[in-house]
Amino acid sequence: MSCDTSPAPRHVAIVMDGNGRWAERRGLARTQGHRAGVEAVRRTVRAARELGVGWLTLYAFSSENWKRPKREIDVLMSLPEEFFDRELPEAIEKNVRILAIGRLSRLPARVRAAVEDAVQRTAHNDGMRLVFALSYGGRAEIVDAARRLLQNCNAGQLDSAALDEKIFAAHLDLAEMPDVDLLIRTGAEQRVSNFLLWQIAYAEIVCSGVMWPDFQRRHFESAIAEYQRRERRFGLTGAQLRAAAP
Ligand code: FPP
Repeated sequence: MSCDTSPAPRHVAIVMDGNGRWAERRGLARTQGHRAGVEAVRRTVRAARELGVGWLTLYAFSSENWKRPKREIDVLMSLPEEFFDRELPEAIEKNVRILAIGRLSRLPARVRAAVEDAVQRTAHNDGMRLVFALSYGGRAEIVDAARRLLQNCNAGQLDSAALDEKIFAAHLDLAEMPDVDLLIRTGAEQRVSNFLLWQIAYAEIVCSGVMWPDFQRRHFESAIAEYQRRERRFGLTGAQLRAAAP
């Protein structure tokens, strides 16, 4: 870890890209890359907890990923269950609370049941929040929030004149999810890919050339160190920030 004394980012979100290329470069099936990606998830969850991250959100399957070949989708859909079978005891022991965002109703019943079981069995934990984005799209999440708001307005439970950003955010998939502080993308691409569009408004973005299955604790630490070197201005000038510093 860096010797910097700044706090760890409260919320880290990761676009875990590069599984397919990692596998193809080794002459393996793309699905082998996803399986290797689960090991990287395991390492990263552990590292995040030990480094004091409060929320870790992982982009495990996007709404656009449904367009991939069926065989690849089938393997991707088998991973949450395999992961929870192996990792749930440690999550429970280490006080990790598992949550999920996305259009979960689109998931096969078996996957949904595995996710719901993990969420329910860790519901009383109050340590790190580990969020899986599954069948997730940022625009869809915003549309779903708008739909809930309209329903509340139509039911007379909300006055549209009172709508503000705080109320809007409370209608997103997880009302209590804080804004993302650090967005990491692996796989040598520099895109947001429809991930947490509302929550990344002021996120610091760190792109890594490492393919996700190769992502190690040292890469995670280096992304956090990079975050800690940034000056987060939130629209203020540097001089204003320095004047307000304790
Ligand atoms: C993008 O890489 C990655 C995905 C579509 C899936 C990510 C899933 C995991 C890392 C495993 C999830 C684990 C659990 C426990 C749910 P890509 O296939 O687009 O890679 P490429 O850009 O190299 O083709």
